[in-house]
Amino acid sequence: MPLKFRFVLVAASALALTACASLPASPPKTAKAPEARPDGSVYGLFLAGQAAIAVRATGTATPHQERVDAGRRLYERHKCASCHQIDGRGNSRFPLDGVAGRLAADDLRRWLTDTARMEAAQARLPAIRMSAMNYRFSPDDLAALVDYLRTLK
Ligand code: HEC
Repeated sequence: MPLKFRFVLVAASALALTACASLPASPPKTAKAPEARPDGSVYGLFLAGQAAIAVRATGTATPHQERVDAGRRLYERHKCASCHQIDGRGNSRFPLDGVAGRLAADDLRRWLTDTARMEAAQARLPAIRMSAMNYRFSPDDLAALVDYLRTLK
């Protein structure tokens, strides 16, 4: 089930339960002893459980999105757009739109770690050398950049 949907479901069930809890346990005529109805702490516990599930559901979605956002910031910080274009922004000579459809994750990574070899493997050596940038990305930055590039489908 998509995480967003799961979150909505969890939130809705928690709301429904809160609504039930606030209703009288039974009509006044046939009022039962108060202990016949689960007390507030049971609902509290249930809601806490639901909240924990909700946090976990959204929590698993976050790390990837965070890396994509970090990758986008790295792309800007390293001025990749001086040679590349994405979404009409940057140098139109070497567009990266759709690059995730052309290259697998491993090749995207190689362009950032083994740039000169990737250039040499081109049919024609590009007139502008990305290898001249001498990038040295940390493993975290590399993962973030690759995750970002992989969103360019
Ligand atoms: C000095 C210019 C320059 C800079 C700066 C630069 N690149 Fe490149 N990059 C190139 C050139 C030229 C190519 C080869 C493109 C081609 O031949 O189609 C290339 C290729 C790539 C490719 C493979 C594209 C494809 O379609 O096969 C990726 C991915 C890439 N660069 C990502 C980046 C990222 C990310 C940055 C910033 C960290 C960056 N580049 C910075 C010039 C540059």
